[in-house]
Amino acid sequence: MSPLPRLAVLASGRGSNLQCLQDAITAGQLDAQIVGVFSDKPAAAALEKVAPAQRWACSPRDYADREAFDSALADAVAASQPDWIICAGYMRILGAGFVQRFSGRLVNIHPSLLPLHKGLHTHARAIEAGDAEHGASVHFVVPELDAGAVIAQARVPVLDGDSAEVLAKRVLAVEHPLLLASVQLLVAGRLAERDGMVHYDGQSVFSPLRLDSAGTLRR
Ligand code: GRF
Repeated sequence: MSPLPRLAVLASGRGSNLQCLQDAITAGQLDAQIVGVFSDKPAAAALEKVAPAQRWACSPRDYADREAFDSALADAVAASQPDWIICAGYMRILGAGFVQRFSGRLVNIHPSLLPLHKGLHTHARAIEAGDAEHGASVHFVVPELDAGAVIAQARVPVLDGDSAEVLAKRVLAVEHPLLLASVQLLVAGRLAERDGMVHYDGQSVFSPLRLDSAGTLRR
């Protein structure tokens, strides 16, 4: 029996995406183990979802600069010996040093249909832009913010009268199955990042996989 793939999760807030992965593991839908939760917010609720020995959280304010914080974070993540590092509601920009150290094994879920709306406040920006659709993207992380190869996306309609909060809830509801389906492929060894492209079952994919209504990713 080969050891279960090891997932390190970076989170800054409530950790609903982390919870979704944990629930899937418990239900036998994800053959992996969460080996640590790492945060830039010592009070993050996400940290409560694992045992104290699996938590690492420090405030960047306690470090001389971004590099020093990122280096301490990277050392803590590396010590958990992860196969994959999942940014799930992690709200701090990861410096190039961190990204390069885990290149190819580092993914993020972002609440927009990348390359649209990189960065923050994506739901309000989608409404302001008059987008008919919005959604979420799981992508490999590169030094440039939210610019890595997109693995998979889930789409939701933007409805008349939507507030950013209402739209955010609709997007979050598809983030969970999107992240789960993406991580299932990652831990099964079916996804890789090569030359800035997503490889799925050994073939380059030129557009993100799409989450269908049954929670399955399709080309
Ligand atoms: C989610 O919308 C995620 O896409 C974004 O942070 C939000 C909170 O995620 N990065 P979670 O509930 O903490 O997993």
